[in-house]
Amino acid sequence: MSKVVLYCRPGFEKECAAEITEKATQYEVFGFARVKDNSGYVVFECYQHEDADKLVRHLPFRELIFARQMFVAGELLRDLPPEDRISPVVGMLTGVIEGAGDLRVEVPDTNESKELMKFCRKFTVPLRAALRQQRVLLLKENAHRPIVHVFFIAPGCCYTGYSYSNNNSPFFMGIPRLKFPSDAPSRSTLKLEEAFHVFIPYDEWDERLSSGMHAVDLGACPGGWTYQLVKRSMMVHAVDNGPMAPSLMDTGQVTHHRADGFKFEPTRNNIDWLVCDMVEKPARVTHLMARWLVNGWCREAIFNLKLPMKKRYEEVSQNLAGLAQELKDNGINAQIQAKQLYHDREEITVHVRRIWGAVPGRRDER
Ligand SMILES: C[S@@+](CC[C@H](N)C(=O)[O-])C[C@H]1O[C@@H](n2cnc3c(N)ncnc32)[C@H](O)[C@@H]1O
Repeated sequence: MSKVVLYCRPGFEKECAAEITEKATQYEVFGFARVKDNSGYVVFECYQHEDADKLVRHLPFRELIFARQMFVAGELLRDLPPEDRISPVVGMLTGVIEGAGDLRVEVPDTNESKELMKFCRKFTVPLRAALRQQRVLLLKENAHRPIVHVFFIAPGCCYTGYSYSNNNSPFFMGIPRLKFPSDAPSRSTLKLEEAFHVFIPYDEWDERLSSGMHAVDLGACPGGWTYQLVKRSMMVHAVDNGPMAPSLMDTGQVTHHRADGFKFEPTRNNIDWLVCDMVEKPARVTHLMARWLVNGWCREAIFNLKLPMKKRYEEVSQNLAGLAQELKDNGINAQIQAKQLYHDREEITVHVRRIWGAVPGRRDER
């Protein structure tokens, strides 16, 4: 199998393609990306047959910003015969993968694929049985074994292959299913909730998202992100000139500052979380986040970078490289991860965690 299939947000295929091409080169994997606008996926074709496996095994999935999922795939299976769509899929996988732990029959995240999804659900049961018979799949689900993917891009037309469970998205179609909490003041609450799911390992939630922590939310109104912090029993400073939802203010956990998020400074250095959803130029937001981290004003930060411009991949790469450099220059050791989340639109979400670092001296806004 020589292809790597990557899922992405429809409209971001070029960014996904540019990213996989650049990252593959770092692993000395060469090939080219096939892109169809608004399709919701990219196919990276490796020149060397075995390189697709190398990439999916070794390129850390968490480092990819625009890909929601990646798997090794063979040739596109076209015109699957309606009377037996199973045999060609099983044939493609037999001898390539054995003892996989789970099967996901998926589609691109487009409106056109919604009908196909109904078929996929029905198809999964008999396909799973056939794959078990051939030992492609284990008899019992196993979270530590590879995942078999069957990705229908049109009726009777699919890619199939596998991903590694320690280097993929654990979610079906790469999308965490979150329920909108009816008492949240805005739908963007789901962005921060998804960010927690994607960036913070579950076994660290009790320690890193725990009650009594202090948080600052820049650009907080009406309070969707603050809601997530309040729900986790944190004390929140919400900074915005707009109005906060009264239900949040009633909790007694929120202090509302009608101030400019670029000028606001915490009065104490005990802020665990800085979150920021201000609609501003990415460079300005990135610099502000660096300032908080360098000054030791917060331990972790989650922020959005809005991408209304044309050269989105370049913009993201430049800002993240600039942030990494600024932290390094100031002796801050930090983990930086960025992802275009399912609930992100023309934007990405970035998470930074300060591991250690001296706080040399105050850094001011330039
Ligand atoms: C996308 S909304 C935030 C939505 C919020 N995260 C939620 O979940 O409800 C952006 C907010 O940033 C605020 N904002 C923009 N520039 C700001 C600034 N310089 N200082 C403070 N707030 C700002 C706007 O007033 C607006 O309420």
